[in-house]
Amino acid sequence: MYKDKKVVFSGVQPSGVLTIGNYLGAIRSFADFSETYHCYYCVVDEHAITVRQVPADLRRRTYETLALYIACGLDPEKNTLFVQSHVSAHAELGWILDCYTMFGELSRMTQFKDKSAKNADNINAGLFTYPTLMAADILLYQSELVPVGVDQKQHLELTRDIALRFNQIYGDTFVVPDAYIPKETAKIMSLADPEKKMSKSDENENATVRILDPKDVIIRKFKRAVTDSGSEVRYAEDKPGVSNLISIYSAFTGKTVGEVEREFAGKGYGDFKLAVGEACADALAPVQAEFARLTADKAYLEDVMRKGSEAAAHDAARTMSKVRRKFGFTDLRR
Ligand code: TRP
Repeated sequence: MYKDKKVVFSGVQPSGVLTIGNYLGAIRSFADFSETYHCYYCVVDEHAITVRQVPADLRRRTYETLALYIACGLDPEKNTLFVQSHVSAHAELGWILDCYTMFGELSRMTQFKDKSAKNADNINAGLFTYPTLMAADILLYQSELVPVGVDQKQHLELTRDIALRFNQIYGDTFVVPDAYIPKETAKIMSLADPEKKMSKSDENENATVRILDPKDVIIRKFKRAVTDSGSEVRYAEDKPGVSNLISIYSAFTGKTVGEVEREFAGKGYGDFKLAVGEACADALAPVQAEFARLTADKAYLEDVMRKGSEAAAHDAARTMSKVRRKFGFTDLRR
């Protein structure tokens, strides 16, 4: 879409609160993209309503998620930051793509199967077509690269299939996007079960550290982190708990694994866990301060939302007009 720059698109739901896994593996590095790519980062409130939401909470979290993006270093002057429901083209293209996506394909999505099991009393059509709306988000901006967690890989593959199918029928219409799965996200594991990825929706509060957790909570969670037998601070396959803490410490301090091992040689797990907690809390302190400042300034956040959605709507309209023309909708815009 931009002749000079390739496009990055990613979305985050305004539900739950992001973890240090999201921060270290994804958001922290998003800012680097804005130098070389045109980046859209979207708060996907339309995806959020596929499960029941309390309206006041959804609204608050939408502001908070945007504030968190900015606090983590995404400059609204350099990135298009916006809210999905402010750009009607997402729902519009979502419907169109529904008609080019097969029931069988959507039935195979593991997230749909998981969420259906968890929300047995609310298996709505939106939960089923969630991936086509996601495809619309991505394809609307002719995105080349989509940073996501590994759990979204299947949805990205479906997005590619839909784009290829559409292009085959109507000629080149959409850029076929690639997933970008940051290596580090996979590496940050649950503090309660280091064999499992740290997940923002984990029901066990002690399993995750949130970007916005206060210092005392962070220290306490690391203190309670599951470690392994023995007492040596060493990175090893048979020491998943300690290895995970070493990865986290290394990510926050920039020290290598070897440096960390030497620093804690001869010291016990207790000292090490406290140091990890301190390093994490210190690194997050400026993000938290900025978040507090931003959420107190609703007018500023609304200004960002307004400018972001205007820019996004303008870019999305170009794709929509192409799509309409291609398959025979009458288009009065010209
Ligand atoms: N489904 C993604 C998630 O739950 C969020 C999302 C929605 C998204 N639309 C997107 C991510 C487009 C990347 C691109 O994490």
